[in-house]
Amino acid sequence: MKKLVGIVLLILPMLAQASVGVSLDEVDVDVSDKASLMRGAQYFATYCQSCHSIKHMRYSRIADDLAIPEKQVEQELIPGGGFLYSSMTTAMSAKDAEQWFAGAKAPDLSLIARSRGPDWLYTYLRGFYLDAARPFGVNNVVFPDVAMPNVLWEMQGQQKAVFKKEGKTEVLDRLMLVEGGQMTPQEFDAAITDLVNFLVYAGEPAQLQRTSLGKYVILFLIVFLVLAYRLKKEFWKDVH
Ligand code: HEC
Repeated sequence: MKKLVGIVLLILPMLAQASVGVSLDEVDVDVSDKASLMRGAQYFATYCQSCHSIKHMRYSRIADDLAIPEKQVEQELIPGGGFLYSSMTTAMSAKDAEQWFAGAKAPDLSLIARSRGPDWLYTYLRGFYLDAARPFGVNNVVFPDVAMPNVLWEMQGQQKAVFKKEGKTEVLDRLMLVEGGQMTPQEFDAAITDLVNFLVYAGEPAQLQRTSLGKYVILFLIVFLVLAYRLKKEFWKDVH
């Protein structure tokens, strides 16, 4: 009996996940691609920062990490000429946010890539679809009844959800573009890849140094291997 309960407890969460039924689209991010990170940072500053902050990130750090002149970071990323050494805060006050989004808060996105994962973010940001029943006229495939408007619709265009019958219930089958945006779907996917890449980097800026350090560690190990081998030969020469 105990075993049975154990098995049921094990299986339950799997069932719960399966019933969500939305598969995530995979994204291939590359935090060593500095041009992509800078584009992502620009998208963030333009389209997201009016509501979301990334408190753990300083502009000066972006300049350092991406090897971009501080002047350029100031011009392209800091809205209204903010301070290079301040963190990426949002201009929105908590009170406004509460009023506009019926109590839902636009969360700080410092750690969002770690809590949700890149694939989820990629699917979420491309997953808004028209739904007249919602306050902002849109819903989302991975975040049902989300309180965030589709801020990227000008780039993406508008999508409609196509449902299919599964037994008695209707489930979401796929999204269909019903009105084109400024970008082609491929361009839009690439833009979101950059944005997600930036959020992944923001979640752990030190990973940039770590990956570049990794190369030196491997190089050191190879050199060390050669030296050790030579030394070993030298030591054993007389023994044989
Ligand atoms: C107009 C304000 C606004 C803008 C602009 C905005 N968001 Fe949001 N966002 C929200 C609100 C409000 C929520 C909370 C939704 C909820 O809880 O239902 C949210 C939620 C999210 C979430 C989900 C957080 C979670 O709980 O997992 C992510 C990720 C996100 N936003 C990313 C972005 C990105 C990236 C951009 C820029 C492309 C952006 N948002 C632009 C208001 C905004």
